[in-house]
Amino acid sequence: MYKINQITVLGSGIMGHGIAQISAMAGYNVILRDIEQAFLDKAMDKIKWSINKLVEKQKISQSEAEKIINRIHPVVELEQSLKNSNLIIEAVPEDLTLKKKVYEEIEKFATDDMIFASNTSTLPISEISAFTSRPDKFIGLHFFNPPQLMPLVEIIPGAKTEQQVTDLAINLVKEVKKTPIVCKKDVPGFIVNRIFIPLVHEAAYCLDRTGASMVEVDSASKYKMALPMGIFELADYTGMDVIHKATSEMYSRDKKVIFPHPKIQQLYENKELGQKTGKGFYQYQGDNYERVQLTEEAAEKFDPIPLVSIAVNNASWLISNGVCNREELEQALKLGMGLKRELFTTAESVGIQNIINTLKDLQTKYGSFYEPDPYLLSLQK
Ligand code: 3HC
Repeated sequence: MYKINQITVLGSGIMGHGIAQISAMAGYNVILRDIEQAFLDKAMDKIKWSINKLVEKQKISQSEAEKIINRIHPVVELEQSLKNSNLIIEAVPEDLTLKKKVYEEIEKFATDDMIFASNTSTLPISEISAFTSRPDKFIGLHFFNPPQLMPLVEIIPGAKTEQQVTDLAINLVKEVKKTPIVCKKDVPGFIVNRIFIPLVHEAAYCLDRTGASMVEVDSASKYKMALPMGIFELADYTGMDVIHKATSEMYSRDKKVIFPHPKIQQLYENKELGQKTGKGFYQYQGDNYERVQLTEEAAEKFDPIPLVSIAVNNASWLISNGVCNREELEQALKLGMGLKRELFTTAESVGIQNIINTLKDLQTKYGSFYEPDPYLLSLQK
């Protein structure tokens, strides 16, 4: 049986620092590693901000807060960062070449008993694990932003992952007080990103095709689709670097998963990455947590049926292809994206037939991405 004594988190960005924080909150000694001290300083500031919020809300006490921060050790030097850890959680940017380089480097210092977990948002685990000497001790552990608040972790075993490693990952996720959902197939985007990332592109098409404003589309996402944030707001919050890289990696493997809109690449190339750079779809004061003002009045000006349709169609694909069942899908969307009403309940209120007709119409105009999935067609009365 494997046992975790200490965790190293590679990468201190939005996901890495959050994963380090929740691991420390569960009592683990954590090494947070990045390539520059300045990145680690920023990450520690964000952790302190988040912990203070939890103290303010009386979720933890001041003395617990101090202990948690003391359990997180920022380190630049790679060899030192791996010493004495037996679980390495990699949270570096979503770029297969970069991930390959990182795994080749850590293999030089890794001991045989180390388990590698990747927080990849979209890349097949079997592909990444093939860069290492230990595909049997390699697993996908996909957290959601912000890891401190989102209760879901998708667990993705690769083709060679040992059952014991999957069991260990399930236990770890429960220990950090999250809910694990095991993806039954290692498909690009897993469950939640297969819904979320295509929605960002579709929302951009909605601006072009309907003339609606971003605030109208976002308000409708919030008040009619029951998302906690608008889709553009969520894209900015996630970061256009993440969305763009996830898009390219998913699209290169499966053209059916996504219909890319050029705006995402354009924002990425202009370094308008969202909240972290002060500008993305919207403009922000700085890189701190900030919300966009959305209203029920603005929601009334946009009918989100194309957004509901592609979300339901991609959800149907996941069910048809045995990645998850409907119950797991709804749970993943609730816990990973904060969806306040089940997606298929929204779909039924819009009308399954209306959704199928919308998709067929979009298919005629824009191609096979919109072709209705057989599971969705089977719901026709
Ligand atoms: N730590 C602690 N507190 C935090 C925090 C953090 N990291 N981030 C925000 N908060 C605080 C806020 O400051 C606020 O505090 P306040 O009450 O003192 O002002 C409090 O949490 C509540 O925030 P909001 O008032 O903005 O209210 P919400 O009820 O909307 O909750 C949210 C915030 C949990 C972020 C919610 O909006 C949400 O669930 N959004 C959707 C997020 C989502 O979909 N994430 C997944 C994206 S996909 C992904 O990550 C996968 C990747 O691979 C791409």
